[in-house]
Amino acid sequence: MTALTEDVLLFSRAEAGRMEFKPAPLDLTALCRRVADEILSTTAQRCPIQTEILLSPEPARGDEPLLRHILGNLLTNAVKYSAPGTPVNFRVTQEGGDAVFEIEDRGIGIPEADRARLFTPFHRGTNAAYTTGTGLGLVIVRRCVERHGGRLEIESEGRPGVTATVRLPMFSPAHTEFVKRFD
Ligand SMILES: Nc1ncnc2c1ncn2[C@@H]1O[C@H](COP(=O)(O)OP(=O)(O)O)[C@@H](O)[C@H]1O
Ligand SMILES: [Mg+2]
Repeated sequence: MTALTEDVLLFSRAEAGRMEFKPAPLDLTALCRRVADEILSTTAQRCPIQTEILLSPEPARGDEPLLRHILGNLLTNAVKYSAPGTPVNFRVTQEGGDAVFEIEDRGIGIPEADRARLFTPFHRGTNAAYTTGTGLGLVIVRRCVERHGGRLEIESEGRPGVTATVRLPMFSPAHTEFVKRFD
């Protein structure tokens, strides 16, 4: 399946409220390493991904397919909007009950004029003319983050590159409550 078809399918499923959320215990460290490796190979090793994972051994709870969409999309953007060879930093930490994922690149950044439209379906930035894409990635990421009861922040101000930060309640008792209420 092409990336376009896959994005459009995911997007329409999310819009129709049919995106499944089935949290289960998972090894978050292993999952993050696997996704980073996959993106390295789907982007033909365009940029090194410097991965740093600092998590407690306590198992996390999350929905693996949704996590893959979130991390895969953000890492792909970081790589494709960076010059070849420019390192991308992927940091995963724990703050209280939250897993915090930071994906930082030193690429072309997001011009002021595009910042307001990052989450508009099919909108591609004025900086994106030389890369392929659907303009759906961040819309899908945001839906997946919301489904997880988390928060997403995209920062690109006053310096080259972009930092995407995702916080998901994957460890806390609060998360267990959240899952019970919405399951
Ligand atoms: N890491 C990044 N660096 C620079 N621009 C970015 C980055 N991530 C997203 N963007 C901008 O946000 C727009 C929307 O991103 P996304 O929804 O993933 O769509 P696309 O398919 O174009 O990558 C992109 O077209 C691009 O202009
Ligand atoms: Mg994208």
